[in-house]
Amino acid sequence: MFSDQWSNIKPLPGANRLIKHLKVHGIPMALASNSPRMSIESKISYQQGWKDSFSSIIGGNEVSAAKPSPDIFLEAANRLKLEPSNCLVIEDSLPGVAAGKAAGMKVIAVPYLPKQCHLYTSADEVINSLLDLRPEKWGLSPFQDWIEGTLPLEPWHIRGSVVKGFGRGSKMLGIPTANLSTEGHTTLLSEHPSGVYFGWAGLPARGVYKMVMSIGWNPYFNNKEKTIEPWLLHEFDEDFYGKELHLVIVGYIRPEMNFPSLEKLIEKIHGDRRIAEKALELPLYLKYKDDPYLKAIGRPGTGRQGGPKTRPVRHIEDVYRATWKVLDPLS
Ligand SMILES: Cc1cc2nc3c(=O)[nH]c(=O)nc-3n(C[C@H](O)[C@H](O)[C@H](O)COP(=O)(O)O)c2cc1C
Repeated sequence: MFSDQWSNIKPLPGANRLIKHLKVHGIPMALASNSPRMSIESKISYQQGWKDSFSSIIGGNEVSAAKPSPDIFLEAANRLKLEPSNCLVIEDSLPGVAAGKAAGMKVIAVPYLPKQCHLYTSADEVINSLLDLRPEKWGLSPFQDWIEGTLPLEPWHIRGSVVKGFGRGSKMLGIPTANLSTEGHTTLLSEHPSGVYFGWAGLPARGVYKMVMSIGWNPYFNNKEKTIEPWLLHEFDEDFYGKELHLVIVGYIRPEMNFPSLEKLIEKIHGDRRIAEKALELPLYLKYKDDPYLKAIGRPGTGRQGGPKTRPVRHIEDVYRATWKVLDPLS
């Protein structure tokens, strides 16, 4: 019934990169999910190279007790011929984290529900997204794709009207963000992890500017809504409320964070600005300054995103998120 929709589902940002990385470094991986094995296999068959990357796939139907019981992870370790204490679990659900810990394994939690990090206290590490995973913390080879504090991404595009935020940007922080309307961007907001990104911003009929932005809930202010807050790195004499803004996002810098003081938040955002300003001079990122999308005149809110189109099937996305768990040995 779901198979048509599964073919349209995109992997979580960073999932392909992580799987490829572990495979290249010869790290055995198992996929262990409470879903029936047949449905896991069907789901991952749409993702190129995934099936071959896992030495073992274990479905909930193959063990007597589902997560939070440790059975599925113990079975995975057994099939990989590894001691549980040499395995690292990457989990998105609370029962999964409990199962991994009960199996005597190290567990990294990547909570699939936003703003739920505080519930994952038993995990050894909680990260915001797979983009934030640092394999070297776990004795594995580090990713080699970070460049000058930035992670290059397949560019994504978004445009919309500039709207008023909470008015803190200019007044409290001295950081005048040109907040983008989130209208029509539900899919994009659910697909991209919250965090600090950078790229190019186009104000049609005006120019193209360097840009650093946050997407998320601003943990320091604990917003109730996810917002898109680009900071155009240029001195302007006026604001842009109601104007159309086009963004090409080319890289990632860090997850959103909370800070002990407003000064620390401001300091960090200025650090992000310096990283983005410098990185955007690299040919890898500079080339996108000429993207015609930045200058195109169009109706606000009709953002094009890079990559293949997907349908916004939220609950299927969640089912999918719950299926991928990686186990790999600690060296
Ligand atoms: C580059 C950048 C990084 C940011 N990082 C964080 C962060 O780590 N934590 C946070 O709470 N807010 C972060 N913010 C959001 C600011 O707190 C936000 O822009 C400010 O509160 C203004 O919000 P307003 O325009 O809705 O008034 C960041 C903003 C930018 C532009």
